[in-house]
Amino acid sequence: MRNVILSCFIVTLFGCSSAGPTQPEAEYAVAMPDQFAAQVALNVMAEGGNAVDAAIAAQFALAVTYPEAGNIGGGGFMTIYMDDATDFLDYREMAPAAASRDMYLDENGDVHPSDSLFGAKASGIPGTVAGMWQAHQKYAKLPWQRLVQPAVTLAQDGFYVPEKLAGRVSRYIQRLEQRGRESNFADYFGAAATPGALFKQPELAATLTRIRDRGQAGFYSGETAAHIVNFMQANGGLISREDLHNYTAKWRTPITFAWRGYEIITSPPPSSGGIAVAQWLGMVDNVVSDNALPAHNSAEYLHLVSEAGKRVFADRAEYLGDPDFFAVPQSQLVDPAYIAKRAAAINLSAISATPDIQPGLYESEDTTHFSIVDKWGNAVANTTTINLSFGAGVVAEGAGFLLNDEMDDFSAKPGVPNFFGAVGGEANAIEPYKRMLSSMTPTIVLDNDEVKLVTGSPGGTTIISSVTLSILNTLLFDLSAEDAVNSPRFHHQLLPKDTIRMHPGFAATTRQALTDMGYTLDERRFGDLHLILQQDGRLSAASEASGRGRAVVEKAQ
Ligand code: DON
Repeated sequence: MRNVILSCFIVTLFGCSSAGPTQPEAEYAVAMPDQFAAQVALNVMAEGGNAVDAAIAAQFALAVTYPEAGNIGGGGFMTIYMDDATDFLDYREMAPAAASRDMYLDENGDVHPSDSLFGAKASGIPGTVAGMWQAHQKYAKLPWQRLVQPAVTLAQDGFYVPEKLAGRVSRYIQRLEQRGRESNFADYFGAAATPGALFKQPELAATLTRIRDRGQAGFYSGETAAHIVNFMQANGGLISREDLHNYTAKWRTPITFAWRGYEIITSPPPSSGGIAVAQWLGMVDNVVSDNALPAHNSAEYLHLVSEAGKRVFADRAEYLGDPDFFAVPQSQLVDPAYIAKRAAAINLSAISATPDIQPGLYESEDTTHFSIVDKWGNAVANTTTINLSFGAGVVAEGAGFLLNDEMDDFSAKPGVPNFFGAVGGEANAIEPYKRMLSSMTPTIVLDNDEVKLVTGSPGGTTIISSVTLSILNTLLFDLSAEDAVNSPRFHHQLLPKDTIRMHPGFAATTRQALTDMGYTLDERRFGDLHLILQQDGRLSAASEASGRGRAVVEKAQ
């Protein structure tokens, strides 16, 4: 809406005749994890589709061209700003009916992590197709068939394998071999291990065709459902026909909060991300309003943000889970008075002792994110996942897609960290049909009801840091979209104790000062930000250079 209104207003000022040279033209933009999804989304918007149309088409395209994380076998979250209203779609996986609290413990009560990470038993009931169907029913302008077709074509006719995808596929196959894992992965994806090869996926094309022609019924019933259930039964998985029938995507109220004059719209439980970002930004703001803002990426800055992060993760472990099963004290956790109290305990010159950080009041990696703004000024931030790279590492035979290993996001046993080092207890214990706690944080920031920023990233628990830092980089430190996604980032999640995970690229003096303070530095990249930023009515879009993303801004015709 906004760009059009702005253009008309300016046209009116200039007599509403010819377009003056200063008239901002309506634009639309995408920041996508790969070139194929970017093109599909741009085509949809060029044809008059809105941001949700583009998101649905991109989601299905990524299920073909980004198999590490793009999916129809997983789930995700979509944050929406459409026609001046905010909305949130939860298409997170649910535990199967036969799941139980101790299902990943052995006879000694110890967690068997590989069971929740690899193979059919690691999968929750997939939510993606139901989610896209819901999004289409509520918001779309273009026909469903039009939006699914590009994915069918990409699977049927094939696409040329990008080098980075080929590298990931070949490393994954090696790893499966080294670990002696039985999997059909190489049968399906071996051909994608060669850069530049034309890679076709006929079974997936047939599944997508059923989805195109029958909507969500093309996935949750009939032939696709039969393939999933047969694979589950033959491989120790739990998902039944009834489970597929019972899956529902849910519309939820997003978390919204004010920060430095902006309105931030982000993910509610079963994501931990929105509450975490609200607390994190709030604590940092409390501290910098009483003290000078430390220099960007200085040791003082990393320490301050890390101290706030410790408190965020203490609350995450205790209070956050599926709100349909556990009473998450959401309003208390984001109450500014509570956040101010937590911030007051931060010591700017020394590391606080880890055991002292209790919950106040009262957690190779892959996921993927994309950001879209359409010519009307509507926005979608969408994060989607099958958990680790290539999910559970096995393909639902006959249906041609990778299954998720999202069950690992539950707390298999109180206090025992999951793959991402996140701990949890009752709030995130396994129960039938419960949704596992997530860190995915697709986020939209508004400035006077106009989209200012659309952001999100993969990275398990580090997602929360990537999103928080993308907001701080753009809106507190005024970095451009490009600089904001490529600026080195850091992450502190309380445990392991006093450990800051950081991208390579921080100044040696910063690293030394942090080491002198007592921090352990764990230098490993994480995340893959895709953001769109609006400044003075113009959009800029950026995808992190380390990935294979593509970000484009187009002028509307
Ligand atoms: O929902 C979550 O928080 C995780 N399953 C996300 C996993 C992830 O981001 C892996 N990626 N890098």
